[in-house]
Order: sequence, then structure tokens, then C-alpha cells
Amino acid sequence: MSEIETLEAELIGAIDGAADEAALEQLRIAALGKKGSISALMKSLGGMSPDERKVMGPALNGLKTRITEAIGARKSHLAEIALDARLASEFVDVTLPTRDGPLREGRIHPISQVTEEIEAIFADMGFSVAEGPDIEDEHHNFDALNIPESHPARQMMDTFYMPERADGKRMVLRTHTSPVQIRKMENTEPPIRIIAPGRVYRCDYDQTHTPMFHQVEGLVIDKQTHMGQLKWTLEEFCKAFFEVSEVKMRFRPSHFPFTEPSAEVDIGHARVGNQIKIGEGDEWLEILGCGMVHPQVLRNVGYDPEIYQGYAFGMGIDRLAMLKYGMPDLRAFFNSDLRWLKHYGFSVLDVPSLVGGLSS
Ligand code: DAH
Repeated sequence: MSEIETLEAELIGAIDGAADEAALEQLRIAALGKKGSISALMKSLGGMSPDERKVMGPALNGLKTRITEAIGARKSHLAEIALDARLASEFVDVTLPTRDGPLREGRIHPISQVTEEIEAIFADMGFSVAEGPDIEDEHHNFDALNIPESHPARQMMDTFYMPERADGKRMVLRTHTSPVQIRKMENTEPPIRIIAPGRVYRCDYDQTHTPMFHQVEGLVIDKQTHMGQLKWTLEEFCKAFFEVSEVKMRFRPSHFPFTEPSAEVDIGHARVGNQIKIGEGDEWLEILGCGMVHPQVLRNVGYDPEIYQGYAFGMGIDRLAMLKYGMPDLRAFFNSDLRWLKHYGFSVLDVPSLVGGLSS
């Protein structure tokens, strides 16, 4: 092999093996640069005889052209590889949504979730949902419920009063959901079986009290109702709500002006670290008041207590939520802190139902 052929084979081998553009540039300089191997051969032409030069001149020019082409070809090949790699690493699917839509980003507030859970359970037992206004008159909030002006319960409730009207009457922000009982009975013939979830208001504020909170009222009126049914209904509710097969409940005798007899119900639970376990342990937390509807309340709405009796209950939704989902501070419920909502909130698509699961 001639010197030129050997050099060409070497150079082509090196060019084909060049890993990147920098290595290729080094090769180019080493071959075609001022002090490069091909340039050196070119310079040697001057010292040759005219005959030699006739042969070597075109041969060297041919070598120079082929090496220049080979470098050019390798360069574009390397550039292509680099571009492919960049395209692969920087791939953007412009048809994708720019950020998660409301179905994935949005969260259902625990209060809404728990309210829906409660509604699902009672709907399954044949209850329907009733509503009443947040701004109530004193008749429905107090008098018709057998809480006269002088009654201590009226002072104890820390009522928010609206400014007095021209007729001397004052509206109140309802202090409980019990006025919905009255509204329902006033315009319905028994039998009645309703729950009434909603906002209630009392002037109170600490770790377990906020000026606005949530209750769900229950009312059943029929010709033969008794405490046993009330107890069964609440037990079944608690088992379904806390999603446990056994629940420890304690009915304590109590007093409400609108029920006789009256009871308060506590739920047995254990605190293990930060967690609350329902149905175990020796700690009790009051979750509701209940009783047989007072005959005077029945008379106030025009029912004959000799024919109709009923039972009623009022539960704190916020407390139920705190117990079930282990949220220690009620005030955080209403701070509109997105981080809290992301942590404790529920997916928009998980609609609570007894069939599909309440909280799954
Ligand atoms: N209204 C009561 C309260 O806010 C709760 C309550 C107790 C409601 C007994 C009832 C009931 O319907 O029967 O404290």
C-alpha cells in the first residue's frame, strides 16, 4: 500500500470512530490543519520532480477532497444523532392538558363528604332530606320547640340576634337544626321520616367550637314510635358511619325542652397516638342529643299526642368528621387552607354510597 493509501485508511478509520464533534475537529486539524499530515504532504510537492508531482499532486488533492468529505459526512451524522437524542429527551406532547383539571385537583371538604355519607346512610333507612332557613324566627328556633323566653336553654345557646325589626321581632341565626322539625311538621301530615343537615350558629370559639358549625337533625313521627326504634336507628347509623361491625354507645339520661324523655349519646373510642379507634377503649365522646318528641311540641304544630308520637335527634356533623377522620382542631375546617384541604379532602369522583363504600 502506498503512503497515501495507508494515511487515508488510518484517517477514515479515525473519522468513522470519532465519538463527537470535538473529536472530529481534532482529527480535521491533525490532517488538514496548517501542520496537519495532509498539509505536510502537500508541502512536500515543492521538492518533487515535475513527473513525481504530476502523479502525487492529483493523488494528494484527491485524498484531501475525500477526507474533507468524510469529515463532513461524519459531522452531519453526529449532528443527526445529537438531534435525535435531544428530541427524545425534550419530547413534549403538546396535546396533553397543561395542568390537572378540576376533577383531579379539586377536593371535597370533609364536611360535605361527611354530610353526604350521613345522607346516604339515612336514605337507605327510608329518611328523606329536609331543609330550613339559616336566618330563623324565634318562634321556630325557640318557642315552638318548647323553649320559652324565660327558659335557661335560651340564654345558654349564645344566640346571634339580628337587628330588631319594625314589628319588634328579632330574627336569629338558627342555633340548631331543630327548627326544621317544626317547619316540616307544620306543613306535613304524619308519617314523617326526615333528616335535616345544615349550618348552625352560636357565639363560641375554641379548639372544638366555631361560631358556625354543622348539625343534622332527625325526626320520625308515626302512630307507634318508641325509644327502642330510636336506639336501633342510631346504633345502625353509627356502625354504618364509622364502618365498623360493633360500636360502643352509651345513652345517658339528659334534658332537652323539646324531648321527653331525653338522652345524650356518647361513642366509646380509644386514642392510640394521634389516631382515634372507634368501638374500642374506655374514652367517651358526646356526639348527639335525642329523645321522644315532647307532647307540647306536637301540640304546637297541631298534632294530637294521643295519636302521634315521635323521636328526634340532633348530631354534630363536625364532631363526627373529627372522630372519623382524626382531625384534631375544628377551627382548621374553616380556614380555607388549601394544604389542609388537599390533605383531608376527598376526591370529587368518590361519591359516598352504602354500595360503593362511604369513604373509600
Ligand atoms: N338541638 C339540640 C342542640 O342543638 C340537639 C338535639 C337534642 C336535637 C335532642 C334533637 C333532640 O332533635 O331530640 O343541642
